[in-house]
Amino acid sequence: MSTAHNRAQEGEIAKVVLLCGDPLRAKFIAENYLENYKLVNSVRNMYYYTGFYKGKLVTVGGSGMGIPSMGIYSYELYNHYDVDTIIRVGTAGTYKENIKIGDIILAAGACSNSNYASQFNLNGTYSAIADFSLLEKGAKIAKESNFVCHVGNVLSSDIFYDDDVNYWKKWANLGVLAVEMESYALYINAARCGKKALTILSVSDSLVSKEETSSEQRQTGFKDMMYIALEIASEQ
Ligand code: HPA
Repeated sequence: MSTAHNRAQEGEIAKVVLLCGDPLRAKFIAENYLENYKLVNSVRNMYYYTGFYKGKLVTVGGSGMGIPSMGIYSYELYNHYDVDTIIRVGTAGTYKENIKIGDIILAAGACSNSNYASQFNLNGTYSAIADFSLLEKGAKIAKESNFVCHVGNVLSSDIFYDDDVNYWKKWANLGVLAVEMESYALYINAARCGKKALTILSVSDSLVSKEETSSEQRQTGFKDMMYIALEIASEQ
């Protein structure tokens, strides 16, 4: 049952998986939000834990950073472990003045500067989108909880340290809300496998104000994002 990157055995991965870039954040989520959890993978220190949230079996694990890494983990989860739903919980840098540190972004779609979609030999540009039922649930939960939540397009970039410090303004002019590095691969893998995916982001920095997150803001945004993700998971 195991793959080159995941040693979890059959039945050890739930149908719904929360993925964080950082495997230690997955550990934190298991320790703070799950009951009766157990470690099911530690290959490359990419920890995966499976446990219960409000009686629902949920797995939480790491995706690593960037499209190639997310591409590997999400593909194996959907294909080898027959996972139905992946919810990415991550951070993003916003491109918009009205979006503040600690706000939540639901990525309705993901643009990219990566060539991940070139494998399909399309004669056009693929628009990677979230599953609408997950998106709708996320927006509803955020609204009911009075979280500041924005829904829209993000950029899944291959580049963290861009040579052109103003590159992002062109994306911002097209209404892109924020930058992160994984959702494009996640949404494409969900589509090609006939499965569901959603990215929920907590804004950790702003390219407009150059502000970065204080540990307190990071924690609040993180808690709101986790609440939305776990509530959606419990309804799957
Ligand atoms: N760039 C890319 N990914 C990110 C950023 C960023 O500024 N902030 C959080 N994730």
